[in-house]
Amino acid sequence: MAGRNHLYVPGPTNIPTEIMNAMNVDMEDHRSPIFPNLVKPLLQDLKKIFRTETGQAFIFPATGTAGWEIALTNMLNPGDKVLIYRFGQFGHLWMQMAKRLGLDVECHEIEWGKGIPVDDLEARLKADTDHQIKAVLATHNETATGVTSDIAGTRKAMDAAKHPALLFVDGVSSIASIDFRMDEWGIDAAISGSQKGFMLPAGGAFLAFSQKALKAAETATFPRCFLDLQDHITTNKDGYTPYTPSTPILHGLRKSLDILLAEGMENVYARHHRLAEGTRRAIAAWGLKLCAHPGFESDTVSAVVVPADKDARDVISTAFNKYNISLGGGLSEVAGKVFRIGHMGNMNDVSMLGAIAGVEMALLDNGIDITPGAGVAAAIEYYRSTAL
Ligand SMILES: Cc1ncc(COP(=O)(O)O)c(C=O)c1O
Repeated sequence: MAGRNHLYVPGPTNIPTEIMNAMNVDMEDHRSPIFPNLVKPLLQDLKKIFRTETGQAFIFPATGTAGWEIALTNMLNPGDKVLIYRFGQFGHLWMQMAKRLGLDVECHEIEWGKGIPVDDLEARLKADTDHQIKAVLATHNETATGVTSDIAGTRKAMDAAKHPALLFVDGVSSIASIDFRMDEWGIDAAISGSQKGFMLPAGGAFLAFSQKALKAAETATFPRCFLDLQDHITTNKDGYTPYTPSTPILHGLRKSLDILLAEGMENVYARHHRLAEGTRRAIAAWGLKLCAHPGFESDTVSAVVVPADKDARDVISTAFNKYNISLGGGLSEVAGKVFRIGHMGNMNDVSMLGAIAGVEMALLDNGIDITPGAGVAAAIEYYRSTAL
């Protein structure tokens, strides 16, 4: 097919040309005396994205899934109790991982489309008077349903219950895109990956841990090797890594951090919000609903519910085969019910209008009763009237 594929899956996201070029480097000696000049500032500047001054940042040659495992195995002990709410595929997978590792998982089902119920959390933590729960696992942005949870509220609930559990936050599809404040929200483990807000290929797990979490890591008894934090602490101190790093990812990260920090994190969040809002206006103009309930709408991904007699997989397939645009599918419990439009990373008004126009054609082709042009018109109106 002539022309390019248009990528609107909620990760991997589109990579800016400057980042592509920055990654196109000769291989180099990662034990050389000048290598720390690359690594040390990366670890410092990553902290600015996580918004932490007191925490410590880490880079693993891995993905977000490894990030979950790094937090669980470095800070907890086999048999420890963890609390999680399950309201989407990624929370589900994290919960399953915790079980497979031998943690005692207290999991509460929440309707897919909602997020962490902070009042319920407070009540449960208050009831846990002997502090059996060692960690709360919170998915900040559930990519499967396009739901953003209230992490400030989660921390408030934990404080109100005077509960000492660690707060682990999956920020894979929020960090570097949606407001995230590690220190202010008292987050102990912040987990992210390279292929979403950081606009890099997959292959980098970016993490930050609080001093409280690092203290817990000193005595945690889970067996671990490749994902052991201590090996990173020892080598990172001098600007090195415990094993061969992916140097292109590191050079790409340098450029990504430069781009994000030059824009300013508040501006990055505002840009994502505006692009998401235009997409939401289009969805409303089609007469369709988000999977996310009001108040939980994500600024990085919209999961759109198709009418009950239609299959979202057909919309995705038409979009790809006929119009060469890639949308995200519904996962697990929402398979066939939703398609997802990513509005994360290197996007602007016109890239979103491309997504909206392509989706609109695919919806019409599949006999979904929308007014031709309605979504595009609503988004155009919003983007024009709010353009900077
Ligand atoms: C919220 C969330 N957590 C975790 C993951 C898993 O990350 P990875 O696929 O990089 O292992 C994803 C991937 O999309 C995600 O969206």
